[in-house]
Amino acid sequence: MLERAKELLEETIAFVSKDAQQIEEFRIKILGSKGELKKLFAEFRNVPAEQKKEFGLVLNDLREKAEAKIAELKAEIANSEGNTSQKREDYTRPTNLNELGSRHPISLVKNEIIEIFKRIGFSVSEGPEIEDDWHNFSALNFPPEHPARDMQDTFFVEKDPDIALRTHTSSVQVRVMENSNPPIRTISPGRVYRNEAISARAHCFFHQVEGLYIDKGVSFADLKQTLLFFAQEMFGKETKIRLRPSYFPFTEPSAEMDVSCSICSGKGCNVCKYTGYLEILGCGMVDPNVLENCGIDSKVYTGFAFGMGVERITQLKYNVNDLRLYSENDKEFLDQFKGSF
Ligand code: DAH
Repeated sequence: MLERAKELLEETIAFVSKDAQQIEEFRIKILGSKGELKKLFAEFRNVPAEQKKEFGLVLNDLREKAEAKIAELKAEIANSEGNTSQKREDYTRPTNLNELGSRHPISLVKNEIIEIFKRIGFSVSEGPEIEDDWHNFSALNFPPEHPARDMQDTFFVEKDPDIALRTHTSSVQVRVMENSNPPIRTISPGRVYRNEAISARAHCFFHQVEGLYIDKGVSFADLKQTLLFFAQEMFGKETKIRLRPSYFPFTEPSAEMDVSCSICSGKGCNVCKYTGYLEILGCGMVDPNVLENCGIDSKVYTGFAFGMGVERITQLKYNVNDLRLYSENDKEFLDQFKGSF
C-alpha cells in the first residue's frame, strides 16, 4: 500500500501537460470519486497500526500535491490562452494592403538602354505606330519591289496610298531628320509590328530602339566606339563586340553587331550555339540617299544609325527564352521582376 502511494506521489510530481483533457483525466485518476486516492483511503484500515501514521502522511501529501499540480497546470493553460488572445488580429488594420506591381521586363530594359545613351548625349524621340509608306520605306531607300514591303511582312491599314503599322523604328529617323538640323543625336524606342506567325521565336509585335547620330565628320569608328560603350554598360565591362558586314537599304556600309556571350563568357554554350557570340543589332553609316531624302546635305554631313530589338536584349539579360511570355500577362512571370526599376 505504502509503495503504491509513494509511486503515485512520484507520478504526481513528475506529471506535466498542457492539454486540458489530459489534466482532467489525471485529476479523475488521482482525486476522482473512484480514483486512486479514494481506493488508498479505503485500504487505510487494513494498514498495520505501526504504519498508519506514515501512510496517512503520504496520502495527505499525495492529495495536496495532486491538487496543487492540477491547479498549477490549469493556470498555465489559462495564461497561455490569455497570451494568444493578446496576439489576436488587429481588426482595425486595413484588409488589402495595396500590393505593388512590377515593371514589365521590356520597360526595364528599354529604360536601361535610354539611360545608357542619355549618358553620352543622346536625346529620346518618338514617332507614330501607324506610318505612311514614305517614312517606313521610301525615304529609307527601300526600292518599290523590296520584299519587306510585301503583304507577308507588313500589316497594311490602307492601300493606295499605303498606310501601315510601322515595321521598324527606323521610320522615326526620317521624321527626326526632316524636322531638325544636325547635329542630331537621338534614340527612338517604340513598338513595331510584323505579319509573322506567333511562336517562341517570333511575334507579330515587338519593341526596338533606333539610334541616329548626324554631324560633320561622323565616321564608322564613332559608330563602333558608341556601340562598344553601350555593350559594356549593358552586359558588363568585359564584353567584347564583333561587327560583321551586312546589308540594309538605308545604310552603307552596313553591319550586324554581336556581343560576346555573357552566359559562357565567350567559351561557347548552347545559347550562343557554341560560337561565343550573340547577334544583337543592325547598324551602319546612313546612306547619302537617305540624308538627301530627309533634306540633309550629304556632302556636308555624315552619320551612323543602329537598331536593336528590346526583346532580344531582355532575353539575354534575363534568360527569357519564349517571346510569347512578354505579352501573356502571366503574373508569375511578371512577379519575378518585382523590386526592379
Ligand atoms: N530597321 C532594322 C530592322 O528592323 C534595324 C536596323 C538596322 C536599324 C540597321 C538601323 C540600322 O538604323 O542602321 O531590322
